[in-house]
Amino acid sequence: MKGLKIVSTGRALPAKVVTNDDMSKLVETSDEWIATRTGIRTRHFCEGEKQSDLAEQAARRALEHGKIDPKDLCACIVATVTPDHSAPTSACLLQQRLGLPEDIPCFDMNVGCTGFIYALQVARGFLLQSGRPHALVIGAESLSRITDFTDRGTCVLFGDGAGAAVVKLEEDSLYACTLGARGDAEAIFIEGPGSERPYIHMDGQKVFRFAVEAVPHCIHVLLEETGLSLEDIDWFVPHQANKRIIDHVAKKLKVPNEKFYQNMMHYGNTSAASIPIALDEMAEQGLLKQGQKILCVGFGAGLTWGGALLEW
Ligand code: UT7
Repeated sequence: MKGLKIVSTGRALPAKVVTNDDMSKLVETSDEWIATRTGIRTRHFCEGEKQSDLAEQAARRALEHGKIDPKDLCACIVATVTPDHSAPTSACLLQQRLGLPEDIPCFDMNVGCTGFIYALQVARGFLLQSGRPHALVIGAESLSRITDFTDRGTCVLFGDGAGAAVVKLEEDSLYACTLGARGDAEAIFIEGPGSERPYIHMDGQKVFRFAVEAVPHCIHVLLEETGLSLEDIDWFVPHQANKRIIDHVAKKLKVPNEKFYQNMMHYGNTSAASIPIALDEMAEQGLLKQGQKILCVGFGAGLTWGGALLEW
């Protein structure tokens, strides 16, 4: 089978860093509450930068890191719930700004925080039919734009950022993917532009319960499909929503906590960007070695969930 390989990654974060103490000046909260309940210490908020700027910067870095010629791309997919506009999409803006070929699909996908995983699988579909060797997959968000800064239950959780990956097919390389969805407008609901309160509304506890079921579910499906065991996986790269969710899953599966990469302390929950940001950070730190088995798993608005198991 032709597996999907990540050739290179990049990330971009807005310059402005906001601490938990800064948040406590906006709403009744504390560093202690936020850190204990979520693991988050700081997040980045856009101040002038747009979501498409972050997507562009992350994409440029991924292309540079892999020395990829944009002419070799067969698709550009941006996973996001916060595009600058409904049209043109951020992916179309990138087509122009990065000088991507005009005869390839460029489009945004809205799959909540699971967007990057869905986008990997969609990119694989384009790679299988294309004569061009690479695809560009980006997760990019400016969640501060749709955050209600009077709601302490949500505003402390989110951050802005983007992560990008150049992917290719590789003969006889490990790859499996699982995707799912269950419509639920109560767990997470984001009103569209033009509404009176165009913000993220969330039933935190409901999402928490969903997440601690969805993540192990994805992991089990992928292991079953590949005949691998938990011990065979070198790194789990989960969506970075909440430290307690990740710790809970690691404990439930009896997997050493260190195998679950965590960086929500620095960035908060960056939705579709969290997994590619984590991958780029891990690659930069030299944590990812050739041949290692990486299991990425996401969950979020929709509700949606998805996992991808691949070889580095
Ligand atoms: O990517 C999308 C995925 N989203 C998620 O994964 C979110 C999943 N859910 C969570 O992470 C957690 O449910 C939260 C972090 C959102 C909330 O943690 P919790 O332990 O479920 O808290 P809670 O909602 O049960 O609230 C407990 C208390 C409440 O006060 P009372 O009613 O007990 O007096 C809240 O009003 O904590 C209060 N509270 C806060 N207190 C200080 C809620 N937010 C805050 C806050 N600071 N920021």
